[in-house]
Amino acid sequence: MRLRLATAGESHGPGVVAVLDGVPHGLRVEREAIDRDLRRRQGGYGRGGRMKIEHDEVEVLAGLRGGVTLGSPLALLVRNRDFDNWRDVMDPFAPPTGERAKAITRPRPGHVDLAGALKLGLGDARDALERSSARSTAARVAAGAVCKALLAACRIELFGHVASIGDVFAMQHDFVDGKEADFAALRETTEASEVRCADPSASQQMVDAVKQAQRDGDSLGGVVEVVAWGVPPGLGSHAEWSERLDGRLALALMSIQAIKGVEVGAGFAAAHKRGSQVHDPIGHDGRRFVRPTNRAGGIEGGLTNGAPVVARAAMKPIPTLARPLPSVDLVSKQPFDAQKERTDSCAVPAAAVVAEAAVAFVLADALLDKMGGDTMREVLDRLAAYEAQLAAR
Ligand SMILES: Cc1cc2nc3c(=O)[nH]c(=O)nc-3n(C[C@H](O)[C@H](O)[C@H](O)COP(=O)(O)O)c2cc1C
Repeated sequence: MRLRLATAGESHGPGVVAVLDGVPHGLRVEREAIDRDLRRRQGGYGRGGRMKIEHDEVEVLAGLRGGVTLGSPLALLVRNRDFDNWRDVMDPFAPPTGERAKAITRPRPGHVDLAGALKLGLGDARDALERSSARSTAARVAAGAVCKALLAACRIELFGHVASIGDVFAMQHDFVDGKEADFAALRETTEASEVRCADPSASQQMVDAVKQAQRDGDSLGGVVEVVAWGVPPGLGSHAEWSERLDGRLALALMSIQAIKGVEVGAGFAAAHKRGSQVHDPIGHDGRRFVRPTNRAGGIEGGLTNGAPVVARAAMKPIPTLARPLPSVDLVSKQPFDAQKERTDSCAVPAAAVVAEAAVAFVLADALLDKMGGDTMREVLDRLAAYEAQLAAR
């Protein structure tokens, strides 16, 4: 595994940071491409007031010169504008003065508050939740945009979209090889949707469902799907559990805040069907191997098989509720309603962008495992040689 990504940053601290190591020398990276993805993450119907404060933009601190990677670690900073409102609590050096006002003493069910307070021995969960917060996904998205640039240079494209919110389901699509123009069109529709959904009529119903949840003081989850096409066969590993591509995708997706299930291809539904209904027949069109269906989601035996990679992630509803669930005070143990914080009521559209970044990281990493070199020239030469070898079969 060639790429390493570390993130740092508290939700209301000065900013979030991604350090991405292992990107070869010579990759062109546009600032606008990173900022566009940061804006996409901020959007979507159902986000709370925080996203009106933040206007995320990347500052590149290292690894880039003249818009081209140096082969050294990239350090990407996204500042938190909200830090200005939290200096009395979150200043890195000055002792907190507004601490009591911002203390989290009545833990929110579903959030890190109780488990984090127990782990760190605290009566105020603030220290745990500041880092656990999904604000850190901005760092993952910034790094993901670099991974997407690397993949695009190798003609691999991907996008994340919303498959369901609450009990509203978008029309499902078969992402089979040879339908790339359709995927590009779906991506366009997705970008135009308020909830990042490729099905316009479901989009409207999803917005209505979120509005209703907001009126009820409640929150909603959903399922996001990421589709990548142009992925060559043979990425990942059949040989070692920790390098199997489906396992790596599962870690990358499951580690996103509030994601509680991951599927590749037919996923859980495959468990209830017969083998003959699940596995994708193999053909040959005289030029290359073809698969009329893609229930495997582009991965067999831990390896990409040349079909589009399709992965889904299930997001639970947001834990912070305007009408809170019962909780107890961490110190007095007396019953109270759980604490309220400014919150999203639905962040499924944003999660689709984070999931896209997570999948981009895994695919870029697996691509470099197979084609890697010090420079993008070497990567592209090795990819071309591999494609020639595949074409000659
Ligand atoms: C993009 C995104 C935005 C989120 N926004 C919120 C939010 O505003 N309020 C909240 O309580 N949880 C939000 N969450 C979910 C929490 O971060 C998450 O549930 C919490 O950190 C506990 O982690 P867990 O759900 O993975 O166990 C968001 C998650 C994502 C991916």
